[in-house]
Amino acid sequence: MLKILIIITNCYLAHTLTCNDVLDLPDSKRLTLKELQTLQPKDTVQCLAHLGKEQLLKEEADFIWQSIVNYHGGIGNIPDAILVLLHWVTPALTPDDYGNLTLSNIDVIQNFGLNYGLNEDQLSAIADRVREDFAGKEPQDYSFYDLTALRQILCAFNQSEIESIRPLAYKEAAILLGKLENCKPEVMQGFATLAVHPNAFGSPAGWSESTIRVIGKVADYIPQEFINQNNKPNNN
Ligand SMILES: *[C@@H]1O[C@H](CO)[C@@H](O)[C@H](O)[C@H]1NC(C)=O
Ligand SMILES: *[C@@H]1O[C@H](CO)[C@@H](O)[C@H](O)[C@H]1NC(C)=O
Repeated sequence: MLKILIIITNCYLAHTLTCNDVLDLPDSKRLTLKELQTLQPKDTVQCLAHLGKEQLLKEEADFIWQSIVNYHGGIGNIPDAILVLLHWVTPALTPDDYGNLTLSNIDVIQNFGLNYGLNEDQLSAIADRVREDFAGKEPQDYSFYDLTALRQILCAFNQSEIESIRPLAYKEAAILLGKLENCKPEVMQGFATLAVHPNAFGSPAGWSESTIRVIGKVADYIPQEFINQNNKPNNN
């Protein structure tokens, strides 16, 4: 009986982790959900940079997000310094959660612009916050720096918003924008409109191999008739 009690106690102790315990674990050791759930909210928040840096199971991300919300007593109270560290916890945020966040800080926006495979509803909710919160900036005001932070969030904008981005700002960010994942066709077509603008890369007739490489996936959305039209003089 006593022996069983000791074993149970040891098990319990071995699985009650603090942030320091987590940081001391060898790199090869991955926390199980059960182990993660022994962390107190304080330790979860303290260890967020570490916990969020690798892809998480849904239950794990949900647990970490709820711990953060509880620790700060509500979504609206979570400091920007914590939001910038969310990384792979980000998929746990529901579209409704974004109603309680303010996305006005470029470093916070940068967290949400990375590619975590968010669904369309989540990205749309983020885009709505950016439209409202981001220093009153409209797409025509976005700089290279802004576009670099926004990344995947741009995939939730519509074609007319994308086309109002300054072609020069698009050009500066073209390498990155040409690598966006799962962007809907209307957004890619919007980028293609910017790409052929004289202040960006101009007529496709004048493009080199390296231009095509720079614009990446956007090259697939240059309207065919535009390319044919511009190639005509060369073909004759
Ligand atoms: C979200 O904001 C509403 C209104 O301010 C508040 O009642 C609610 O508790 C908040 N939810 C969370 C999870 O922070
Ligand atoms: C694009 O989105 C903006 C912001 O939500 C909206 O005001 C505008 O009407 C939309 N345009 C089209 C063509 O859907």
